[in-house]
Amino acid sequence: MNEQFSALEILRKSSTFLSKKGIKSAKIDAEWIICNFLKIKKLDIYLDKHIISDEETLNKIRHAISRRAKREPLQHILGYVEFHGIMLKCDKRALIPRFETEQLVDLISSNLPVGFQGSILDFGTGSGAIIISLAKIYPHAKCLGIDKSVNCISLAKENVILNKCDQHVDIIQYDWNNSSIYLDRVNVIVANPPYLSEKEWLDTEPEVKEHDPKDALLSRKEGIYDLEKIIDIAPSLLCKSGLLALEIGHNQSEYLLKMLNKHFRKSFIKKDFTGKRRFLLAML
Ligand SMILES: C[S@@+](CC[C@H](N)C(=O)[O-])C[C@H]1O[C@@H](n2cnc3c(N)ncnc32)[C@H](O)[C@@H]1O
Repeated sequence: MNEQFSALEILRKSSTFLSKKGIKSAKIDAEWIICNFLKIKKLDIYLDKHIISDEETLNKIRHAISRRAKREPLQHILGYVEFHGIMLKCDKRALIPRFETEQLVDLISSNLPVGFQGSILDFGTGSGAIIISLAKIYPHAKCLGIDKSVNCISLAKENVILNKCDQHVDIIQYDWNNSSIYLDRVNVIVANPPYLSEKEWLDTEPEVKEHDPKDALLSRKEGIYDLEKIIDIAPSLLCKSGLLALEIGHNQSEYLLKMLNKHFRKSFIKKDFTGKRRFLLAML
């Protein structure tokens, strides 16, 4: 007879194992993995009714837990991530969308009218997280996501199809440093560009350093190069009264605000949930 375990027993064993391997979110990650492979809800684990004896399922859970123990990100193991209420495919091709970036989406929507029908450009779209979320909020907006990475382009296109918004979202390859493609003026530019210095990148956890694309995180000139570049070109790509919304590093706001004030009519720093200055909004 096959071995039998309850979902709760598997959770206890897995979270103890992951904790010993230094995973800070051991219990939460084990819950996600168990729920994913058993196709149950978190509460079902604690109701302790699920008995698993099927060897194939047990092996899938063991394999996933051992990948996590080797510091592979949970989102790559699951193959998806939830972002701003939508599901996105997630793998090595692009940066895993971060929780704080959901706030950037909220900042834009709090500055646009309900039913906005203009155009939105996402600079460095990665998985397509920002532009797809905005496309869902504004089904009549014309949306474009650009990225220099072919890997990101392929993942973002898959996510556009997955979220059924290919009628009004385009994804194209474009490098803001040297692309000669002509882009039409838009009402909104949003960007979460690379903004880490080499030192900051070296200090990141293995999940980030070994699994997120380095190009998505690291920027020249102590992390400021790409933000400067975007602020520089944004006025020539925005319509009159256009909005620029940026995610930035926690120590970059003062310098960038001065730069924005030279080109834009109004600019503001916005803080994240922890009180750090992580976003900039500017109106032309
Ligand atoms: C921090 S990631 C953000 C990804 C996604 N927007 C998100 O918020 O999850 C930055 C993205 O910018 C892209 N990128 C970096 N340099 C670029 C450039 N010169 N031109 C276009 N895209 C660039 C990277 O490939 C990466 O996908």
